[in-house]
Amino acid sequence: MDLRLDGKTAIVTGASRGIGLAIARRLAEAGAQVMLSSRKPAALEEAAAELAGLDGDVAWYAAHAGDPDQASACIAATLERFGSLDILVNNAATNPHFGPMLEIDRAQAMKTVEVNQLGVLGWCQAAYRAAFEQHGGAIVNIASIGGLGPEPGIGWYNVTKAAVIHLTRQLAFELAPGVRVNALAPGLVRTHFARALWEPHEAGVSAQIPLRRIGEPDDIGSAALFLVSDAASWITGAVLAVDGGATSRPSGGVG
Ligand SMILES: NC(=O)c1ccc[n+]([C@@H]2O[C@H](COP(=O)([O-])OP(=O)(O)OC[C@H]3O[C@@H](n4cnc5c(N)ncnc54)[C@H](OP(=O)(O)O)[C@@H]3O)[C@@H](O)[C@H]2O)c1
Repeated sequence: MDLRLDGKTAIVTGASRGIGLAIARRLAEAGAQVMLSSRKPAALEEAAAELAGLDGDVAWYAAHAGDPDQASACIAATLERFGSLDILVNNAATNPHFGPMLEIDRAQAMKTVEVNQLGVLGWCQAAYRAAFEQHGGAIVNIASIGGLGPEPGIGWYNVTKAAVIHLTRQLAFELAPGVRVNALAPGLVRTHFARALWEPHEAGVSAQIPLRRIGEPDDIGSAALFLVSDAASWITGAVLAVDGGATSRPSGGVG
């Protein structure tokens, strides 16, 4: 099974911490050259220093995931620095609203769509035009199990994650056979982003998950490495839940 990425170049958005940093680490361990991207330069510099010395070179470029011009600039910087682009991981996302979906205001709803949904489209467009159209590539979009069904508190965020799942399948169809496009749907993972969901009652949350623990960022990193590697060369349009079995629980229905 070929999980090595020697000679390949990857961009990971939202890579300064959490799941994005874990994905970047796995790709660099496998030999890929990795461009880390997120908004804050200081955090990126720290993340790049943390990954220095792995098999693949690591660099960083600050870009807002919801701004298509900044996506293009990051991709141009990647081509200049590493000479190629073969892998794109769309991981950055935001959630400015917590509570009933109908209470979200329009500005928050638009911001969520801009980063989580249009952002993913914009990076795919820019990467395809700049590199993948010529020689192919692999894209992994980070969705969420919340994009597969209703959950309390994060309804509109989950609508954008459902859109990422559909966008993934649509692009897999449109970009085949040159570019593979897959999605990961994480369950609850121990990161800053999800802290309010796990920190106050981790033991209780873990007890509800078939594998009896919340996820660690490396759980998602390993799955991402598999999907972008040649080991997954016949997989496109897939949505892989990495959730400790959370989506495999009995529905609680009467049937
Ligand atoms: N943690 C979970 O339980 C969970 C579950 C399902 C899905 N996910 C998904 O996993 C992905 C990563 O989440 P995480 O939990 O690792 O979050 P995290 O620890 O908060 O990290 C988020 C990363 O994204 C960057 N970022 C945030 N907004 C950005 C923007 N507008 N433009 C560019 N970069 C931005 C952050 O850096 P800056 O702030 O410096 O930009 C940071 O590097 C997201 O797509 C999230 O929806 C997470």
